[in-house]
Amino acid sequence: METEIKTKILLGITGGIAAYKSCDLVRELKKSGFEVQIIMTESARRFVSSLTFEVLSGNPVCLNLWEEGVTKNSPVSHIQQARNADLILIAPASANFLAKIANGIADDLLSTVCLARNVELIVAPSMNIHMWENAATKRNIKTLQEDEVTIFLPTYGDQACGEIGLGRMMEPKDIVDTIIKHRKADKLILDNHNVLITAGPTYEPIDPVRGLMNSSTGTLGFKIAECARSFGANVDLVAGPVAHECSKKINRINVRSAREMHTETLKICKAKNISIFFCVAAIADWKPKIFSVEKLKKGVSNLNNIEWVENTDTLAAVAALPSSSKPYTVGFSAETDNPSNCLVEINKKRINKNADVIVANKVPDSFGNKEIEVFFVYSSGKHLIFKGSKDHVSKQILIEAVEQLNLET
Ligand SMILES: Cc1cc2nc3c(=O)[nH]c(=O)nc-3n(C[C@H](O)[C@H](O)[C@H](O)COP(=O)(O)O)c2cc1C
Repeated sequence: METEIKTKILLGITGGIAAYKSCDLVRELKKSGFEVQIIMTESARRFVSSLTFEVLSGNPVCLNLWEEGVTKNSPVSHIQQARNADLILIAPASANFLAKIANGIADDLLSTVCLARNVELIVAPSMNIHMWENAATKRNIKTLQEDEVTIFLPTYGDQACGEIGLGRMMEPKDIVDTIIKHRKADKLILDNHNVLITAGPTYEPIDPVRGLMNSSTGTLGFKIAECARSFGANVDLVAGPVAHECSKKINRINVRSAREMHTETLKICKAKNISIFFCVAAIADWKPKIFSVEKLKKGVSNLNNIEWVENTDTLAAVAALPSSSKPYTVGFSAETDNPSNCLVEINKKRINKNADVIVANKVPDSFGNKEIEVFFVYSSGKHLIFKGSKDHVSKQILIEAVEQLNLET
């Protein structure tokens, strides 16, 4: 994959065991056409020698604020370095380094350059699961997100310390692909593409005044719809009962029950050539077998006697359409357990429904919350994590789906 213009990346390497992976990262960046300038912290040099990075990047590696080589180029070289880069990437970012930049500490060359930057800063943390889950690290990550630092969240898997869990640095190839996607995102154009989204809860009536509903607010689905529209797509939004307004340029179809949502969704898929289907709605799995025309009365009716039947699975039905009308299908899965603990089960769900990708998130945490964390689970078994405001995450979801669609066509 070639980038159009040579983007200058300032790669900061800090003292984590994943520093060895930065060798691969430099190669991947160079292969993709980036110009790479490297700064290492003192701890990073305990893991890999600066000579290795000098050879791989083809540029001298900068090591400290006061060294002759640095000050010779410019009296305030750290400012110069921050200005020369198009973006700064810290990979791996140690827990210590995250703490420093979250607090504006500038006590070495890399942290000083970060503080003096006027370009995007991306960090790819890497650490032991307990360090990652420590309250201080969580606080620092939150602060960095508020400061608009982009976090390439660590993934789940085996760790150097022998434990299994979240904390592994995102793979070098994924880091490079994501940077390229981010840079393309500003130019993302979906003109002439039809995008279909379901959003919100459904309501399964039991009697004229009662029904089964869930706490989905529909925010994420509406945001994906607005985002797709802003990129030029023709958007159909099948919305359950929610109070959200949406742009007049979006074709909104209001529905109430899972059955109505299913019917409208399939109708649109058959009538239009849909490129991507985002099944974001929290569609009820069950409905009462019989709708009671009369209001059920206390003392007379027994709610335990209500018989429930499963609703037809809309995601699976769209994914089962003939290839001529089957869109790229993105299913959403609400998990009460942390998705990182059930990636295998989520992938099984994806296979059963024949969806191209499942985006899992933890409920009820995400309902009504401005922030969300989602796990993309792909057919390859690979997963990526996006976290932040629903505005930010909905854009990431759209970009990721478009990227996957392009890869497959
Ligand atoms: C063998 C070894 C492995 C380490 N691995 C990590 C790691 O993966 N992530 C991390 O945050 N810290 C790790 N540390 C601790 C950091 O190296 C330490 O906090 C250091 O001060 C970081 O300095 P820096 O942020 O300036 O690079 C490790 C330390 C040792 C001795």
